[in-house]
Formats: sequence, structure tokens, C-alpha cells
Amino acid sequence: MADAIKILVVDDDDSGRDALTMLLRSARYEVSSAATGEIALELIGREEYQVIVSDLFLPDKSGFDILQNVQKVSPATEVIVVTGHGSAQTAVRAMKEGAFDYITKPIDFDELKIVVSKALEKQKLLSENIYLRRQLQGRFEFNNIIGSSPAMNLVFERMSRIVKTDSTVLVTGESGTGKELVARALHYNGTRRERPFVAVNCSAIPEMLLESELFGHVRGSFTGAIKDKPGKFEAANHGTIFLDEIGTLPLHLQAKMLRVLQEHEVERVGSNKPVKLHVRVISATNSDLEDSVKRGEFREDLFYRLNVIPLHLPPLRERQQDIMYLTAFFLEKQCRLMGRTVCTIHKQALEALERYSWPGNVRELENLIERMIALTDSNCITLDDVPAKIIGEKTSEEVNGVKMPSHGLDLAATISRIEQSLIVQALESAGGVKAKAAALLGINRTTLVEKIKRFEIGG
Ligand SMILES: Nc1ncnc2c1ncn2[C@@H]1O[C@H](COP(=O)(O)OP(=O)(O)OP(=O)(O)O)[C@@H](O)[C@H]1O
Ligand SMILES: [Mg+2]
Repeated sequence: MADAIKILVVDDDDSGRDALTMLLRSARYEVSSAATGEIALELIGREEYQVIVSDLFLPDKSGFDILQNVQKVSPATEVIVVTGHGSAQTAVRAMKEGAFDYITKPIDFDELKIVVSKALEKQKLLSENIYLRRQLQGRFEFNNIIGSSPAMNLVFERMSRIVKTDSTVLVTGESGTGKELVARALHYNGTRRERPFVAVNCSAIPEMLLESELFGHVRGSFTGAIKDKPGKFEAANHGTIFLDEIGTLPLHLQAKMLRVLQEHEVERVGSNKPVKLHVRVISATNSDLEDSVKRGEFREDLFYRLNVIPLHLPPLRERQQDIMYLTAFFLEKQCRLMGRTVCTIHKQALEALERYSWPGNVRELENLIERMIALTDSNCITLDDVPAKIIGEKTSEEVNGVKMPSHGLDLAATISRIEQSLIVQALESAGGVKAKAAALLGINRTTLVEKIKRFEIGG
């Protein structure tokens, strides 16, 4: 039975324990059992179980001790807790602390078998994801740019063509989508990698100084110009200049920029001696430059010069499947920086991150993970660590979506529509597991089952 699935049953009640063991063995699992918390902890330290079915109330320890220990010693193991009738609150707490699900006594064996197979299914999925991530690292790691969505695969494919060329690239995308990261990766993976990479944020420099920053000046060309100074273009010679927020470049500098790009030479402010340039230009913008062209705020000819190769970075909400990989990457990165053992994230917490819309894109996700790690001592991020704003976004959208009609409304009916919609969403994200959906909604399972019946959800 080398590849058998190992399950540990923990229960102090002999007959209950034997019955569970027999049942799970009949379903072809390899089952060990423990009558006390002590024995259970010892077994967990020695063997790797895929699933643990544990009573919450043991003579020497509580099921919560087992749960915590498993998360430390063997985070991939799923724990199903068994509770007495009427202790839904404890069960909900167990779920919040990372239990996969709970079942109540008297145990319905069919239900237990279903819950166990769901736990195993989830495990398979997660381990495949970890496997995928390992594969991904080998293939697509462009200076730590993470992504596996079709949209990011297109970006990587395009980047691997662009790195071999010297072409001018315009990187577009919302704030925080990784434009600067991509620009650096193009430089440091390209032929100019030994030469300078000079970044200029066109919106951060006062308009008066921008011209001299970019193109340099000669002594005496304006008050304060006490000596000759090369600009960023000259500093980037033979390397790459990264013009960030190019959309904010004032019109009169756009004309000068166009000349520099067309003639491959620059004249410092106050000089008429051109300096030859061999600079690769990568620019970035989070505004719609074509729209600025239409409005007459951006020169069309300059737009075409800059946009030889467009590279668009999709917003994070359009590449939900990257969230898992990015989360794993940032957890690892931040924990390493903080000198801690690498944290894992509980599935429910990850699902909440996957449902959120991320207006600040990858930067917002990275900042949130850093904050969650800093605020917890545990090495598993759970749903409790995720700020309410992120979990509750959908709810508030839903609620804000309800407009008060001028002719009035039926309050009770409206509220029950919202309630129904939230229940359906919770069931969806819990994969149909009612206990999990109940935990997401902060109600107990009996209440949820009643509501499902009342609203006739799921047929
Ligand atoms: N695909 C990714 N993989 C890993 N880290 C990423 C990825 N995309 C962005 N980041 C990280 O997110 C943060 C924001 O990225 P970056 O500064 O490149 O965004 P930006 O598009 O230039 O944003 P802005 O428009 O606000 O300047 C950085 O810390 C970056 O390392
Ligand atoms: Mg940027």
C-alpha cells in the first residue's frame, strides 16, 4: 500500500473511534487511530497524513491544539473536526482556524465519506498548483515577474522577442501592474545589461527643471546653472532610458523629445553642439495616450515614435489565476526579508484575495501581504487576517447597488434578495460545502440550511 491515502482518526471514545476506523478502511484508506491528543501529536510528528478526523473534545487536549499543531508540522494536511450536537459556534471557530470542515455527532457515514473525498480533492488541486508554480519559475522568471494567466503568457512571449531587439517600447497598464518591473527586466535581460539603466519619472520633476534633467545644460544657460551638466539621456548612453509617466510630458518638451528620438542626438540647454546618442528608449504610461493624442495633448508623431512596440500589462482583476502565484511569491519574499519561516495561506483566505478587484493591482496585493505577515505571529494566514474591506467588497457593492427608487420599495423583499445573493455566492465559493459557506457568512450550518430551504436555493 505504498501510495495509500493515510488518515488519522482521533477520538477518546473507543466505540466511536473503532467505528470510524472501520468505515474509512472499508473505503480503502490506510487508517491509524489515536485515543488521546498526546498520541495524536506524536503520530502527526512521525507520519504524514493526508487527512485527520479529530474529535474536538479530548481528555488531555482540545481539537484546536491538534489543528494548530498540524498547521505547523504538516500544513498540507486537512483536518475535519467532529463536534457534539449543538456546538455550531465551536465548529465555526474551528473552520476559521483552518479546519477543512466539520461534522456533527451522531456521524452520518455517507456525509463523512463525502467530506473526506472533498478534502482529498482540494489537496490534489493545491499540490498540483505548487507543482505548476515550480515549473513556472524555471520557464518564465523574467527577473521575478510572476504570472501564469493566458494574458501574462502573452506578455512573456512578447518580452522574450523584445529582449533580443533594440526597439523602442511603450509599456501601458494601470498603476501597480508592473510597468517599471517589466522595463527593468527588458534592460537587464537584453544586450545592454552591462550598461546603465536610467529611469526618469516625467511627472515627478517640476516642469521648469525637466528639460535640463532630460537633456542637460551648459554653464550660464539659466540662473543656477553654475557648471555644465549632462542630462539623463547622456547618462543612459549605450544603455536604456526609462521614461515613466510619459503622458505628462509638456507639449514644448514633446517637440524636443521627438527631435532627440529622430536624430539620435541631444543638445544640452544653452548649447548648440549636438551629442550623439545610442540609447534605447522604453517609456510607460497609465493613461490612454491615444486619447491624449485625440484631445491634442500629446503629439501624434511622438506617440508613433514611442509606440513602435506596444506592451500592455493587464490589470490584476483580469488575471485572477495569477493571484495565487503572486501570493505565494510575496509570502516567500516577505518572510525571507523578515527572517521568518515561510508562511502559508489558508484556502479561504486565498479565495477572498481571488475575489477582490485590486484597484491598486499587484502593488496593492504585495503591500497587503506584507501587512498581514507583519501583524500575525502564526505561520498560516487565515481569513481572520484578511481585512474586512477585502472580504466585504462584494457585499458592499451589492448593497450600494441597491438604489432607493423614488416610488419606494419593499424593504423586507429587498433585504431578502440581498441575503439570497450572498448565500448563493458563499455556497459557490465554498464549493457547495455548507459548513464552509456558513463559516464564510458567520452563521451556523443549521441556520444556513434553513435559509437554503426557505429561499429554495439550489433546487
Ligand atoms: N508580475 C509581477 N510579479 C511580481 N511582482 C510584481 C509583478 N507586477 C508587479 N509587481 C510588483 O508590484 C509593485 C509595483 O510594480 P511597478 O512599480 O512595476 O508598477 P507600475 O506599473 O510601474 O506602477 P505605477 O504606474 O504606479 O508606477 C512592485 O513592487 C513590483 O515588483
Ligand atoms: Mg511605475
